[in-house]
Amino acid sequence: MNLKTIKDLEDIQGKRILLRVDFNTPLTEPDENGYREVADDTRIREALPTINYLLEKEVKLIIISHLGRPKGKVVDELRLDPVARALESLLEKPVKKIDAITSDTVHKEVEEMKAGDILMLENIRFREEEENCDMQYTKELSTLGDVFVNDAFGTAHRKHASTAGLAEYIPAYAGLLMEKEIEELSKVLDNPGHPLTIIFGGAKMDSKIGVIKNFIGKADHILVAGGIGNTFLTASGHNLGESLAQHDMVELAQEIMMDCQEYKTKIILPHDLVAADDCTDDTETANVGVEDFVGDMKAFDLGKWSAEKFCNMIVDSKTVIWNGPVGVFEKKPFQEGSRTIAECIAKSDVTSIIGGGDTINAIKSFNIPADSFTHISTGGGASLEFLEGKMLPGIKPLLD
Ligand code: 3PG
Repeated sequence: MNLKTIKDLEDIQGKRILLRVDFNTPLTEPDENGYREVADDTRIREALPTINYLLEKEVKLIIISHLGRPKGKVVDELRLDPVARALESLLEKPVKKIDAITSDTVHKEVEEMKAGDILMLENIRFREEEENCDMQYTKELSTLGDVFVNDAFGTAHRKHASTAGLAEYIPAYAGLLMEKEIEELSKVLDNPGHPLTIIFGGAKMDSKIGVIKNFIGKADHILVAGGIGNTFLTASGHNLGESLAQHDMVELAQEIMMDCQEYKTKIILPHDLVAADDCTDDTETANVGVEDFVGDMKAFDLGKWSAEKFCNMIVDSKTVIWNGPVGVFEKKPFQEGSRTIAECIAKSDVTSIIGGGDTINAIKSFNIPADSFTHISTGGGASLEFLEGKMLPGIKPLLD
């Protein structure tokens, strides 16, 4: 992909840069004074190279982000103040957060900015026109800047005013995070080292079907586990008692398995699972073969032997993509499967791409350093849609 990036920008000193970032970060519970803080600042840190690059060019930086899904309404708990405080402390520079998005106040604030100043607008999703990509509103928003820089890879799959619309009115460029995400994900999409192994976990198939289909014939192995694995096991005739599975997706899973056979991609299903009565921290567990499920048994993790088998396949691969934990890792008795996979990828000499908020949380909870992986995507839905081979609406206007 031939991207226009901020490195192509010339003579921007003193220019107003409208920078769209994805600071949709988890927040802590409110303290006794009602203050919430950013609980995980990864997405903010990942945007620092772009922010620092632009600040070194002495621009006036106007930052736009969303937080949560306020659906066009002002929701006090979703104001961007904690995010602005977190950015301020990382940059060690003042970040002026205002409670508005487009209004006379905002225009006045922007007019008063000096080169090197940072202004953060209120949660862009407080206005319903954002998600509707309303043209009148987008045009008004665009008058706040001379140049639009999009560094919000995590939101690139949304066609919103601040992710795609602004490019209709002012010149648009990719930030450095956007560039890095596109480069890393394109490598595994266009020219992966083989064997290429993809591991899909998580509860539901819905958001992953497109990627699975796109990699049939391209990947050497697709390993499925978690709720997705259970759906495939059901599709291949196993009865897993009361384990989570999407019964309305069974037919689709059968079609996928047939396509995999035709196009020489091996789809690997678990052959044992960790079963328990309840998904709690102190429940008793048993490692059960998928043939041996009876009655109302429930599976909550990948079995020991399957985890080992998956690990052997990872070690023998050149490229691994992992999206979705293979068990309920949040509960102690069911974290071993995801831990085995995470540690195995981290220790192996493979090119590894990790995506999805839950997968990243699992890795963090096992204290595995982020630099043990080739690339951890900041995008959940965005990275999946990118790997589906789709042209994302937030990326399209950034192409040369
Ligand atoms: C994300 O967290 O995946 C992005 O910020 C996009 O959020 P959304 O799914 O609410 O559009």
